[in-house]
Amino acid sequence: MTQRVANVPVNAVSPDPTATVRLHVNGEEVERTVSVRMLLSDFLRHELGLTGTHVGCEHGVCGACTVMIDGRAGRSCLTLAVQANGHEIRTVESLAGPEGDLHPVQEAFKDCHALQCGYCTPGMIMNVVSHLEADGDLDLTDEGIRDMLSGNLCRCTGYLNIVSAVRRAAELTEQSHTEQAGG
Ligand code: FES
Ligand code: FES
Repeated sequence: MTQRVANVPVNAVSPDPTATVRLHVNGEEVERTVSVRMLLSDFLRHELGLTGTHVGCEHGVCGACTVMIDGRAGRSCLTLAVQANGHEIRTVESLAGPEGDLHPVQEAFKDCHALQCGYCTPGMIMNVVSHLEADGDLDLTDEGIRDMLSGNLCRCTGYLNIVSAVRRAAELTEQSHTEQAGG
């Protein structure tokens, strides 16, 4: 039997509380007043138009929504916009250069045919970028790379080319560091 709460109209809707958040996104400071329940993924896509961040499962499983939060890969579907207040966010839109030249990780994914539909790709790439930029040696064995990618699901590729792309990305990154050091 359906029960009604006394004196509360069935269609009563109370507005969400809002909060003003200020974030650094891809090097720019942005400020918006949003619902306190708004996810960072929705903030990036709907408030800022940064639709390169994809949304798949929306509960932390697939990794499609991965962005960098203060330099580390994080799930934007598990982070509220208010939790990101004052933090540094990087999305896939930050990677290509001003002339459209690809970031080494993007280049490697292209060279190695590491994508098909591309839905998982921005999240994969941001995860790989965060590992390549982190201090410390990377384990570039197949097992090590698969471990690195274990939080990002791809339903198309079978992962083989993605594993190759990560190894290629590490080579390209090393090359570009060597060139920069050589002036
Ligand atoms: S959409 Fe965030 S983990 Fe799947
Ligand atoms: S390329 Fe389609 S989900 Fe990965």
